[in-house]
Amino acid sequence: MKSYIKHDEWRVVESGFHAEFNEITESLMSLGNGKMGQRGNFEERYSGKTLQGNYVAGVWFPDKTRVGWWKNGYPDYFAKVINSINWIGIDIEIDGEMVDLAKCEILEFYRELHMQHGHLMRFCKIRLQNGKELHIESVRFCSITHDQIGQVDYEIIPVNFDGKIKITPYLDGNVQNRDSNYNEYFWDEISKSANDNRAYLQVKTKENKFAVERFDICAGMDVEIFLGGHKQAVSFKNIESEKYTGLEFEIDAKKMQSVRILKKVAIHSSNNFFPDYLVTECEKSLDSVANLKLQVLQRDAWKLKWENCDIKIEGDESAQQGIRFNIFHLLQTYTGQDARLNIGPKGFTGEKYGGVTYWDTEAYCIPFYLSAAEHSVARNLLVYRYNHLQKAILNAQKLGFKKGAALYPMVTMNGEECHNEWEITFEEIHRNGAIAYAIYDYINYTGDETYLNEFGLEVLISISRFWSQRITWSENLRKFVMLGVTGPNEYENNVNNNWYTNYIAIWTLKYTLEAINKVKNNATDYLRIKAELNFEEKEETARWTEIVDKMHFPYDEERQVYLQQDGFLDKELLNVEQIRQHRPINQNWSWDRILRSCFIKQADVLQGLCFFEDDFDIDTQRRNFDFYEPMTVHESSLSPCVHTILACKLDKIEKAYEMYVRTARLDLDDYNNDTEDGLHITSMAGTWMSVVKGFGGMRVKNTQLHLNPILPSNWESLSFRVGLKNNLLEIGISKDGVTIKNLSESDVEISLFDNKVLIKGNSEYFSVG
Ligand code: BGC
Repeated sequence: MKSYIKHDEWRVVESGFHAEFNEITESLMSLGNGKMGQRGNFEERYSGKTLQGNYVAGVWFPDKTRVGWWKNGYPDYFAKVINSINWIGIDIEIDGEMVDLAKCEILEFYRELHMQHGHLMRFCKIRLQNGKELHIESVRFCSITHDQIGQVDYEIIPVNFDGKIKITPYLDGNVQNRDSNYNEYFWDEISKSANDNRAYLQVKTKENKFAVERFDICAGMDVEIFLGGHKQAVSFKNIESEKYTGLEFEIDAKKMQSVRILKKVAIHSSNNFFPDYLVTECEKSLDSVANLKLQVLQRDAWKLKWENCDIKIEGDESAQQGIRFNIFHLLQTYTGQDARLNIGPKGFTGEKYGGVTYWDTEAYCIPFYLSAAEHSVARNLLVYRYNHLQKAILNAQKLGFKKGAALYPMVTMNGEECHNEWEITFEEIHRNGAIAYAIYDYINYTGDETYLNEFGLEVLISISRFWSQRITWSENLRKFVMLGVTGPNEYENNVNNNWYTNYIAIWTLKYTLEAINKVKNNATDYLRIKAELNFEEKEETARWTEIVDKMHFPYDEERQVYLQQDGFLDKELLNVEQIRQHRPINQNWSWDRILRSCFIKQADVLQGLCFFEDDFDIDTQRRNFDFYEPMTVHESSLSPCVHTILACKLDKIEKAYEMYVRTARLDLDDYNNDTEDGLHITSMAGTWMSVVKGFGGMRVKNTQLHLNPILPSNWESLSFRVGLKNNLLEIGISKDGVTIKNLSESDVEISLFDNKVLIKGNSEYFSVG
């Protein structure tokens, strides 16, 4: 754990430079706007520890799969979101010495990510090797009002000298991914040009045999110079080399006189325009923002976002900072306007996980976007999977499944599988269930049943077909069983009858049967779907019903708990406290030792109890929690939030708080020693759930809001807003009671501590206790 980031309600602050943690700070201070994003790198050169990262949504490269032992069915490539043009760069040279914070003396240093205003600010005072001192201040952001634009406002003040400063703002496509095979570069140059104070660079992803699609990116920069606050007419010298264009100029600066460089950059990709038009589009975008005060617009736009998405916690600054940090990054990563995009586990903050889609989206992110954004945002996430259905069917075919069975990939960019560890790629099939569950979740929350007719039912039938082929009839048990799977707990591989997987499979079959009956009300839609899928309703549904009736669920009668898998009780059942000094076990133990142990990477049985809580009474939930929680090491970021939610429900408030801090400050305090790789974006939605579903006790059942709040003892109050079908509600929970403000015109009925309450439009309700 690290504690160099200052606690502050709205800002992430590094005071004094911590060079050894620079990659961590770069992750924490990442910026984004849904369309592009970047790590918190410095604008000027830096030869110290750094992971350079600029990313454009939906732009990726199919890197050849490298594995030691090839298994039939492995995908040929691994989709990577790639580091793209560095657009923030500004070189500063004084008397032949290039400013490089790793090589000069740092006299003062401060940087902050301003979450309320949506920008990254840095201030430093440095002494160069030649003795000259400079004051540097920069403010940077990815615009959320003009999501093709980024801006760097960079100021230099010579502190102890008058003299010439050579300054070169540039665009550079000579960038790599740290995780590229064989140190390859992924970009070819297409064009570069410069004109006055503007320069453009267009690059294209390299050709390789897996690249069905190649992507072009173009960046255009517009540079303005101010001396002592006055705009200067500067003649720039265009410096060009391969995949690089810079606008160099030299300025005579006086001691304590400010030299300000305002660099606006437009970025477009071939995802939205034909490659031939990209330079023109960048030019048009730069023209369109030429006279705008983008930073003011940015601040106002973030203010609006926060109005509905903020969560206020009084009495606990670190918890407050934690939740805002998580919400800020979620809002920066995905805006839900484009159904081709999704949410990578690292978002725009690093390379790990390839930046692609996992079950995390359905299991963790959908609830956040359902409540905190327009319903169309969550809908687009569902449509993303619908659009990949044919590829999921092909994926299942490749593995030997038939008749339209769909297995969605474990990891994907365009619907094709690109994960390559057999025990996960072929066996972690519970992901299919989460995709079905998300359809239910969306309809339950929004009431938008038309989704089933338009898209949902096709996905459900195809997934159900997969389950019905994936199970095996066991003559021995006289039950259906599911062999050779990996559950959410990836510290067990190739197990039989993972309870969670069996449960979600059966649940999917039941939900699909219900969905068929609903869609049948519209004969035209139903007949179309039946024809499209060659659905043999009678035979297929009869088999599903039989499976539902005869599925095996491992259970221990003595302890009255569900067993994570067959044979779980053969393990030595230990408590994580007994291996405290060995943690994290994934860094200290051999893989076979992990597999043989009872230790659980992330919620597994408990994940099922969280999704399907209404199927189980509270005592069952408590027994399972008490059995599994002490064996859980939470070495996946997705784990603590599930435990918070259950712990709140079971009145275990101290445990809930411990787990909350772990999820909310996971990156801020670098709990898992891996923040330098990037932030855990998808688990941030889990943090949101810990507060809203955990402490807020909020559930939506059939579009109706239910609240059963409980506060940690050190919180004075908690408040958040929830968007429902026709209403926007503000929930305030304090030690005195619960206040619910209905911010909409129409009345709303909710359930508070299991009592029905009607709240009139534009009115407030208060309940003591
Ligand atoms: C977790 C998976 C998750 C993936 C990406 C892994 O460590 O075990 O459940 O999908 O990370 O977040």
